[in-house]
Amino acid sequence: MTLRAVVKGVGHYLPDRIVPNAEFEKTLDTSDEWIRTRSGIERRHFAAEDQTTSDLAVIAAKRALESAGLEPDDIDAVIVATSTPDLTFPSVATMVQDKLGMTRGFGFDVQAVCAGFVFALANANSQILGGMAKRVLVIGAETFSRIMDWEDRATCVLFGDGAGALILEGEDAGGTNSDRGVLSADLNSDGRYRDMLYVDGGVSTTGTSGKLRMQGNALFRQAVGKLTSTAEAALEKAGLTDDDVDWIVPHQANIRIIQGTAKKLGISMDKVVVTLQDHGNTSAASIPLALSVGVERGQIKPGDLLVTEAIGGGLAWGSVVLRW
Ligand code: UT7
Repeated sequence: MTLRAVVKGVGHYLPDRIVPNAEFEKTLDTSDEWIRTRSGIERRHFAAEDQTTSDLAVIAAKRALESAGLEPDDIDAVIVATSTPDLTFPSVATMVQDKLGMTRGFGFDVQAVCAGFVFALANANSQILGGMAKRVLVIGAETFSRIMDWEDRATCVLFGDGAGALILEGEDAGGTNSDRGVLSADLNSDGRYRDMLYVDGGVSTTGTSGKLRMQGNALFRQAVGKLTSTAEAALEKAGLTDDDVDWIVPHQANIRIIQGTAKKLGISMDKVVVTLQDHGNTSAASIPLALSVGVERGQIKPGDLLVTEAIGGGLAWGSVVLRW
C-alpha cells in the first residue's frame, strides 16, 4: 500500500468588482486591444477596499469544505500560498483558521509568488506523506491590486485578485501512477533572477509594503523553457509522458506563455484550462482558481491526469502532477 494525497474538495472566490480592460484607457496610455493581444486578459476582479486576502481565502475555503462534505475541525493543517498577506504577521493561514472557527490543527503561509500554489501543494503532499496531517486545506489567495503602481501601464493592467482552495486527504492506494492524488512534484528557484519581478518595499528595507516591479519581456523569455522543463521533470518522476496528460492547468500570466508551453510539450490547447481572460494574473491564486473553474465547466473529471505548472518572482518555478 502507498499513501497518496487525494483531492476531496475544491472551491474558489472572486470579488464582486469586475474591471474590463477599457477602464484603464481612461487613465493610462493603453488600449483594450493591446492588453488582449499581448496578454490574453480581458477583465479582472478587484477586492473591495475593506476586503483582505484572508477574507477571499476563507470564502474559497468554505466552498472547498462544502464540496468535500467536511467541517473545519476535520482539517489538520491549513497552508496558504500568498505574497499579499493581510499583515506582515501572523500568517493568513492562522486568520483563516480563526475565521473558519477551527480550534485544532496548524497553519502557515508559503511565499513563492506566482509559483506559490505549486509549492504549497507539494508541501501539503509532504505533510500528508510524512504523517504530520491527514487532511490539508491548501489555499492560493491574493490581493495584488494592493501592490500595483497605477501609473505603470506595463504591470497594473495584468493582475487581479481572487482565491482558490483544495482539500487533500491521505488515502491508501495501489502505488502506481493510475492512483488518484498527487503523483509527483518538481520545484525550483534561482535568486540570480530576482530583479525580473519583485516588490520595491518590505519590512526590513523601506518599512513599507512597496509596489510590484517587473521586467516583463525578460521574464517572458525565461518562462516557456522553464515551465516546459519543470512539467517534463514532474511527468518523468511520475513515470508518465506528455501523451498521458488530460489537462494542463497552468499559472495564468499570459496566453502566449500558456500557448508556447503547451506547444513545446506537444499538448493541444484543447487540453489546457484557460481562465486568464476573466481573472487576469492572480499570482498564487491562479492555479486553484483554474482548477475550481475547470471542474465547474465540466472540463476536469475524476480520474483525469493534471499537470499544474507555474513561474514567478524569485525566480521560482515548479510543477505538480496529480490525478483528480
Ligand atoms: O506571473 C508571474 C510571471 N509573469 C509573467 O510571466 C509575465 C511575463 N511577461 C509578459 O506577460 C509580457 O512580457 C507582457 C504582457 C508583460 C508585455 O508583453 P511584451 O510583448 O513582452 O511587451 P514589451 O514589454 O516588450 O513591450 C512592448 C511595447 C513597449 O513599447 P515600445 O518600447 O516597444 O515602444 C511598451 O512600452 O508595449 C508597450 N507597453 C504598452 N503599451 C500599451 C507596455 N505596456 C503597455 C500597455 N499598453 N499596457
